[in-house]
Amino acid sequence: MYTFPHKNILDADQFTQEDINYIIEKTNQMRILEKQGRAFGLLRGKILASLFFEASTRTRLSFESAMERLAGRVISTVGFQFSSISKGETLFDTMKMVEAYSDIAVIRHPIEGSSRIAGAAVKIPVINAGDGAGQHPTQALLDMYTIISEKKEIDGLTIGFIGDLKYGRTIHSLIKLLRYYKVHLHLISPKELYLIDSYKKDLEKYPITYEETGDIKAMWECDVIYVTRIQEERFPDYKEYEKLKETYKVNKEMILASKKDTTVLHPLPRVNELSTDVDDLPNAAYFRQAKYGVFVRMTLLCLCLGVEIPKAE
Ligand code: NCD
Repeated sequence: MYTFPHKNILDADQFTQEDINYIIEKTNQMRILEKQGRAFGLLRGKILASLFFEASTRTRLSFESAMERLAGRVISTVGFQFSSISKGETLFDTMKMVEAYSDIAVIRHPIEGSSRIAGAAVKIPVINAGDGAGQHPTQALLDMYTIISEKKEIDGLTIGFIGDLKYGRTIHSLIKLLRYYKVHLHLISPKELYLIDSYKKDLEKYPITYEETGDIKAMWECDVIYVTRIQEERFPDYKEYEKLKETYKVNKEMILASKKDTTVLHPLPRVNELSTDVDDLPNAAYFRQAKYGVFVRMTLLCLCLGVEIPKAE
């Protein structure tokens, strides 16, 4: 019998293929429970600390919505300026307080590795909602969930990642989940923003294959394209960002020239890399992707807290 072995969710690296399948299966269950009005109550009496020290709309609101939909409560702090970190308090001390006030914490922070420090400081479960250019594992799980919902099978797909593969943490996490599958990747980015070597090296041990290119035409061969924003806030040199920010703009015409039924994903927010004229195509799945995030996060909150998700009938 499988039991979910994770208390914290810090890095997509921690998940086995069995874990991923289990999360997908439980999310399907959760989606039905939510529809039947049976999810409300699963986390009654529990408090989520929502700690967002970096900009966020979707991730914060979807975690908070997930907790509320389970009848849990949320306490939150947004931005350094309103937390005692601005007075010089360490993340360790902040987490000690959070532990006293809540049952589970979700944290977004601009420094890579910060969620690991947060997780090590406390006994309550900690979920990484994005640590600098590092990882964003819950986004990757909802991306996987969306791909499966749209395409049914992961094996056999050709997937194109377009944009900022160097600083884009959602890609860093999603690649770690996809590596177990017979998937071919087109890594499409300007040379300056190629995927970091350590990620590429890791892929060599798995069934996944990849090729790198700067040529956007590689998207024509893809079953799924995953478009990302050039991560302005991560560039040490702003001039470099200015030089690269307009590299790609995916539009309707380009999608229509691609494989039939290419699924278009984007973690959002978009800036100018994905044209709004794509939105009305049936295969533009990014708003559905954001919506699925709530079900995935409802599931993860229960799993991390060791609360059983009842079978859906
Ligand atoms: C992403 C992030 O914060 O890494 N957004 C999100 O969580 N949906 C992508 C981004 O900011 O470009």
